Amino acid sequence: MAHEHEKEAAARASLKFVKEGQIVGLGTGSTAAFFIQLLGEEVRKGLRIQAIPSSDRSREQAASLRIPLTTFEEHPEIDVTVDGTDEVDEHLRLIKGGGGALLHEKIVASATKQYVIIADSTKRVPVLGKFPLAVEIIKFAQPVVERKIQALGAKVELRCDANGNPFLTDEHNHILDCHFGEIRNPEALARSLSDMPGIVEHGLFIGMADVVLLAKGGQVIELTRRG
Ligand code: A5P
Repeated sequence: MAHEHEKEAAARASLKFVKEGQIVGLGTGSTAAFFIQLLGEEVRKGLRIQAIPSSDRSREQAASLRIPLTTFEEHPEIDVTVDGTDEVDEHLRLIKGGGGALLHEKIVASATKQYVIIADSTKRVPVLGKFPLAVEIIKFAQPVVERKIQALGAKVELRCDANGNPFLTDEHNHILDCHFGEIRNPEALARSLSDMPGIVEHGLFIGMADVVLLAKGGQVIELTRRG
C-alpha cells in the first residue's frame, strides 16, 4: 500500500499517450487499475476511445466506468496499451504475471503499436528475477514442465488461490511461480521456456516495452527503449 501514490502518479503521466479516437489496451493489476480509473474520468469528460482489456478483472472495471469496449475481431491492432509490471531492468525488460494475466497481457502487448509501462519505484531492479517468474501451463503437462524448469535452476511452486485450490487463469490454465533468483540471461531463459511443450506463456516480456513511466516520490521518470 505504501506506493499507491507512485502508482497513481505513473498512471496519470500515461494519460498523455492516449489520443482521441484510439484503440487502447488496458493492462491488469493494481497500477493498471489506477490508469483505468483515470481513463474512465477522461471518457466521462468526453474523450472518445475504445478499449481492449487484458483480463476479466480489467474488463469489469472498464465496463463499470462506461469505457467503450471493443475486440480483436473488430480491431486487431491496438494504438497504445498501458500496463503495470512486477519488475523492470535498465533494458526495459520486464517480469509480469504477478496478477496471473500474463497470457492475455502479452497478446495485447504483441498487437500494440506503443506499449507503455507504468510502475512505482519498487519495480526497478538491476537484474530481473527476485520476483518469481510466472509461467502459465496446461494442467496435463504440469509434472513434466515442473521438472524441466527445476532443471533450469528454479524452485517451482504451483500458484494457489485463497482457498488453497490451484489458481486458474482467464483461460483456465495453471500458473507455476518459478524462483530463479537472478536471471542473468533473460533472452536465453525466455527461449528455453517458449520451446517447452505444455507452457502456454511465460512472464518475461523482452523487447516489448516502448516507454516505462517510473514514479519515485513526487516525480515520474520517462525511460525509453533504445534501438
Ligand atoms: C498481471 O498479471 C501483472 O502482469 C501485473 O501487471 C503486474 O503484476 C503488476 O501488478 P501491480 O500493478 O499490482 O503491481
